[in-house]
Amino acid sequence: MQINVQQMVLTLSSAVDLVGVNDVFHGRRVGMMAVECARTLGWDEETRRQLFDAGLLHDCGVSSTREHHRLVNELDWEGSNLHCEKGYGLLRDFAPLAHLAPIVRYHHTHWEHMAGLRIEPRIAHHANLIHLVDRVDALAARYYQDESLLLHAGEIRDVISRYRDQFFAPDLVDAFLAASAPEAFWLLLDPAYIPQYVADMNASGVIRPGTLEELKQFAFLIARIVDAKSHFTAEHSLGVARLARFLGEQSGVTGERLEKLEIAALMHDIGKLQVPDELLDSSAIFSPENRSVMKKHSFATYQILRRIGGFEELALWAAEHHESLNGSGYPFHLQAGEIPHEARIIKVADIFQALAQRRPYRAPMPVPKILALLRTMQAAGEVDGAIVDLVALHPEECRRAAEGEAG
Ligand SMILES: [Fe+2]
Ligand SMILES: [Fe+2]
Ligand SMILES: [Fe+2]
Repeated sequence: MQINVQQMVLTLSSAVDLVGVNDVFHGRRVGMMAVECARTLGWDEETRRQLFDAGLLHDCGVSSTREHHRLVNELDWEGSNLHCEKGYGLLRDFAPLAHLAPIVRYHHTHWEHMAGLRIEPRIAHHANLIHLVDRVDALAARYYQDESLLLHAGEIRDVISRYRDQFFAPDLVDAFLAASAPEAFWLLLDPAYIPQYVADMNASGVIRPGTLEELKQFAFLIARIVDAKSHFTAEHSLGVARLARFLGEQSGVTGERLEKLEIAALMHDIGKLQVPDELLDSSAIFSPENRSVMKKHSFATYQILRRIGGFEELALWAAEHHESLNGSGYPFHLQAGEIPHEARIIKVADIFQALAQRRPYRAPMPVPKILALLRTMQAAGEVDGAIVDLVALHPEECRRAAEGEAG
């Protein structure tokens, strides 16, 4: 299997950007501005690409829509460092992207504090450039809606200059002031021009042969970001993946297919990153308005995963976890004959794990009750009876897999 590292960066960044809910270009804009400043500084192409990737992924430690909102609307506050450490931890553990981890770690560290930390000067500069353009995007955010950004570019440049030496390295402030003098710098940030910029940057993407194990690690990385969204759903993706794998094994899925099933289950809820926190944490989750927002998530999962070469089939398994055999599911309203075995497994694993877990509006459900509910759904033509039979045959193993207990 071929892994395109650039596709991984983009997938991860699309997932992370979903947290912006209505404004999903923060990471891309930060990457673009970093590249434009780096060009002014005369930094080479490889460095520019690395900064672009760092810009795309710098907020991977943010899964909460509330925290995202603060990050793009306030200049600085105590605690902004938390997501840097989280993002650092996530990227450090994933070899293909580990080189970006230190940049992410220090992207809210003020320049005046950087010297005391004994960071490699190159890393310190790269992290501080991301910090600078990230704050530019926070200052600009309120003007994207009414298209008045050009009118306010001067103010933004003044604010950044004011924090010279204190927040930002002087040479980086100079580079930013030079790069942002032409209108083109600001006009480029229009959502209409962003996809082309990203495509141009990716034309030289790195493709190299990789392993299934690396893809799995990548899926774990995504699962950790999704599960960090709410403490109520902590470990949900990991539990669904363990249970899906167990049910897969019990029903004769083997080899690469079994690995792909686990990968799909790990990423099935990527699209949930776009669901506002207050909706996930509320008992009003079943109002018609909230249901319609929730119904977008599995389609978003599909749109993100299908872009990865080699993921075409797996993207469908992941995205079809709310389809029903009787055609009443979403988002595609597939009929029984169109829903593959793997998607049916993920659906049952998803329901089981969610019911076994405490939610804001109910206590964790005991296994016999879960099984009874699955039987009711089976009778209604919503889930596959053969898979429910497997749950009935191994209730304890299923509970342990869903809850992540050893043994
Ligand atoms: Fe940011
Ligand atoms: Fe879901
Ligand atoms: Fe789920």
